[in-house]
Amino acid sequence: MDTTESSAVAEGVDALTLTNNAGDAKVDNVLNGVEATEYDGDGDGGDVVDPWNVASSNERGIDYDKLIKRFGSSKIDEELIARLEKIIGKPVHHFIRRGIFFSHRDFHAILTLKEQGKPFYLYTGRGPSSGSLHIGHLIPFYMAKWLQETFDVPLVIQLTDDEKSLWKDLKIEDAIKLAHENAKDIIAIGFDSEKTFIFNDLDFIGKCPAMYQNMIRIQKCVTFNQVKGIFGFGDSDIIGKISFPAVQAAPALSSTFPFIFTGKKPVHCLIPCAIDQDPYFRMTRDVAPRLGYPKCALLHSSFFPALQGAKSKMSASDQNSAVFLTDTPKQIKNKINKYAFSGGRTTVEEHRQLGGNTDVDVAFQLLKFFLEDDAKLEEVRVAYTKGELLTGELKKLAIEVVSPIVEEHQKARKALTDESLAKYFEIRPLKFTH
Ligand code: TYM
Repeated sequence: MDTTESSAVAEGVDALTLTNNAGDAKVDNVLNGVEATEYDGDGDGGDVVDPWNVASSNERGIDYDKLIKRFGSSKIDEELIARLEKIIGKPVHHFIRRGIFFSHRDFHAILTLKEQGKPFYLYTGRGPSSGSLHIGHLIPFYMAKWLQETFDVPLVIQLTDDEKSLWKDLKIEDAIKLAHENAKDIIAIGFDSEKTFIFNDLDFIGKCPAMYQNMIRIQKCVTFNQVKGIFGFGDSDIIGKISFPAVQAAPALSSTFPFIFTGKKPVHCLIPCAIDQDPYFRMTRDVAPRLGYPKCALLHSSFFPALQGAKSKMSASDQNSAVFLTDTPKQIKNKINKYAFSGGRTTVEEHRQLGGNTDVDVAFQLLKFFLEDDAKLEEVRVAYTKGELLTGELKKLAIEVVSPIVEEHQKARKALTDESLAKYFEIRPLKFTH
């Protein structure tokens, strides 16, 4: 069980108190650096997981159990799932049931708030680096939608066009455009407009002094040595990168949105995201109590693998690594048939005799993430493992599951009007009871 009260011990790096002076920079660097970017040498094959790189030398992909240890988060275990199901009175989302969301920070504290009838809100985001999202991006957003519907809570969605402009060769104007394009993909997922606020930093921060003030409060708490340690920044990195973590941290403090959270009391925040974003929130969790806020809670998902296999994640920067939400049925079919890494054997005879490996097979992973029917998934797993189902047949099933999801998404996106889009961006109170 995750222990909120002893989180300083549980979280490893969070346990380091961030101080305003440089403090013991060497210690900070050694401890934080390992968390952020470096291989810790304990045999997990050199997995790298940070907001900009996800890579493993193992065909099975990232060793998530080891990552939990390295990051000092907690496993989403049977006990937590049972408690969640008891509180919500229904089965958990299949992403949780299948271990796709595998790690958390302080989720028990959120469940306690729910039991006590106290409020909390959801926060997630997207860095608009491409005109379209890929299907891996759907994962945290699907979870955010499920959480919003299950708990009836407000959701804020940050589009970090500033981040992408700083990191990529992207003009400010173009980054803003991409943010608006990406917002359409996000809205098409079906978020309740009465309870969801979407903002892109390059437009919103200038209109919201409360956010800028919180960014500065956060910046006052974190030294250069500490961000170097957490994010691996170097002396020649532009200063925009060095100060950016405060921008992603600020929405985790409820007073950033005074038009939503009108009361004086801070409201708890829960963040669903893939685990690459955790370094931002380790920093946030260290700073928050010093500013009088509760630490944000997190639900971490694993990564949808690149089509080429689990050594890297599906990424918007590599067209062939991903199925994009703008892809046509033909493109989806071709990409999966051509690129999806197979866990099958080299010949049909060998496959029939020895069976395939679903752990590394990307077509099977597509079904694991997107086929909701547990019984059907198990049937496929058994048939493939026994060699009864061939790679081509498995890919066909994956195409049949993914294509309609993308098609439906495109229909929903097309139906959006400028007015319906503007509604989500409007600075306004959201509907929720608190
Ligand atoms: P970005 O745009 O890289 O990713 C958006 C969200 O998708 C997750 N993600 C994935 N999940 C599963 N499989 C994948 N292959 C995959 N690739 C990306 C990311 O973890 C993220 O949750 N800096 C952030 C934007 C941001 C944000 C936030 C994200 C701002 N505030 C708060 C989460 C929570 C970014 O560039 O995300």
